[in-house]
Amino acid sequence: MSEALKISYAAPDVAKGGTLVIFMADDGKLPDATRKLIGTTAANGIHRAVEAESFKAKPKSILAIPAPHGLDVDRVLVVGIGHDGDRQATDYIRLGGAISGRFGTARVINILFVGPADWRVDGAAASDLALGMRLRAYRFDKYFTKKREADQDRPQGAVIIKIGLANYSEAKKVSKTGDSIAEGVIKARDLVNEPPNVLDPIEFARRASELSKLGVEITVLDEKQLARIGMRALLGVGQGSAKESRVVIMRWNGAKTAKASKAGPVAFIGKGVVFDTGGISIKPAAGMEDMKGDMGGAACVVGLMHTLASRKAKVNVIGAIGLVENMPDGNAQRPSDIVTSLSGQTIEIINTDAEGRLVLGDVLWYVKETFKPQLMIDLATLTGAVLVALGQENAGLFSNDDALAERIYAAGKATGETVWRLPLSPAYDKMVDSKFADMKNSGGRHAGSITAAQFLKRFVGDTAWAHLDIAGTALGSPESDINKSWSSGWGVRLLDRFVADYYEE
Ligand code: BES
Ligand code: MN
Ligand code: ZN
Repeated sequence: MSEALKISYAAPDVAKGGTLVIFMADDGKLPDATRKLIGTTAANGIHRAVEAESFKAKPKSILAIPAPHGLDVDRVLVVGIGHDGDRQATDYIRLGGAISGRFGTARVINILFVGPADWRVDGAAASDLALGMRLRAYRFDKYFTKKREADQDRPQGAVIIKIGLANYSEAKKVSKTGDSIAEGVIKARDLVNEPPNVLDPIEFARRASELSKLGVEITVLDEKQLARIGMRALLGVGQGSAKESRVVIMRWNGAKTAKASKAGPVAFIGKGVVFDTGGISIKPAAGMEDMKGDMGGAACVVGLMHTLASRKAKVNVIGAIGLVENMPDGNAQRPSDIVTSLSGQTIEIINTDAEGRLVLGDVLWYVKETFKPQLMIDLATLTGAVLVALGQENAGLFSNDDALAERIYAAGKATGETVWRLPLSPAYDKMVDSKFADMKNSGGRHAGSITAAQFLKRFVGDTAWAHLDIAGTALGSPESDINKSWSSGWGVRLLDRFVADYYEE
């Protein structure tokens, strides 16, 4: 859906034509290695341009020099990398994004991935550059029937990118993982961007089932089976919709040792409300179209399973998604209804718009009982309140396990998909007690994200569990160098890293 980037890795050298990309630290001098490759005449010309434009080579700043003196190329992009102290591990991905943002219509790109001695230019860094370029290039344009004006600044056809670095053979190996990550993020973005008349629960389940091609075992539970199992809280949300609800279980068994099967799988659970009107407690019209993205959690789980299976991660993982549509209707559930969840606990419906927790409560309980996972992490576009608290910069993190929370936090730092932990406590828990049932599905306006998490906590027992409220980060065009789309695919990179750093053999 984006133009194809054909990225290859080779020894660095200057070829004729195309766009040449070089790097410069904020001392304003071209690195020796770069000078050697482009020659003195060209280096002098570039220094002259850098001075004339007062280019400061701050991180991710870019100076474009057309038809540079002393070089037989169409254009040079001088990319700033700042200095040692202001560089971070995640910078290569963002740098890749920022660079490709300046490719314009160019179709041949030659990157001289060499730099000053204190700058890492290994295979992993090259692969991260490529990942950033792929993510930046993503567009969701399948529903445009005509070319738009903005497309004039886009390349026509495939873009051929060569990343030149000393250790190109390492880059070739590592980049396979990077490509798996890019595919997973893009899969998640595609699902979130897709409109709900196309992506109903049944179609969503079908797309998730495509993971069987990668060796993921798929089970799709239909409404009959869900009723037999007893997921009445989940089914209650979907009962006003003409579309049937579904739960999809995805299993990736990549671990080789008996130890892994003894520990139990790592489980990811996603909220998949394909459209959230609010139900009888209907939402206002303004902005309701955004609620096609209320399956961002489920999309992330599918994207993550894709990445893990595609790179053959040595770990046993369960992905579970609850797919429903929340609609008002003669058959829809009402405020004051009382439903019995799979756990046996009863829930008074106060607000039919607090539907995500009803879906997740049943799926969390099901996963806990069925698979005895060593830990569960759920992702959900659960509350508007998390946007009030954290904006689009951080996802809300809640957990009953400090060590687990630390690991997620660290993986967030490492990938740039950052989280911020919010509290749980008995006092908040009390806010979801009900006059008529074991609990109610809304604790009111105060601490809305926290009381939603407290509700979920009642469905996880003693299992180590974390909840990520991604209402702010998954959709609504969170600004970044590596995404120009409405949906971000948030969480795939974070959780892939979480698995790789702590749970793989
Ligand atoms: N899907 C919404 C939350 C949401 C808001 C996601 C904005 C993405 C962007 C959720 O189902 C919802 O409606 N939550 C209510 C809960 C309330 C009724 C207790 C909310 O946040 O207002
Ligand atoms: Mn809602
Ligand atoms: Zn919702």
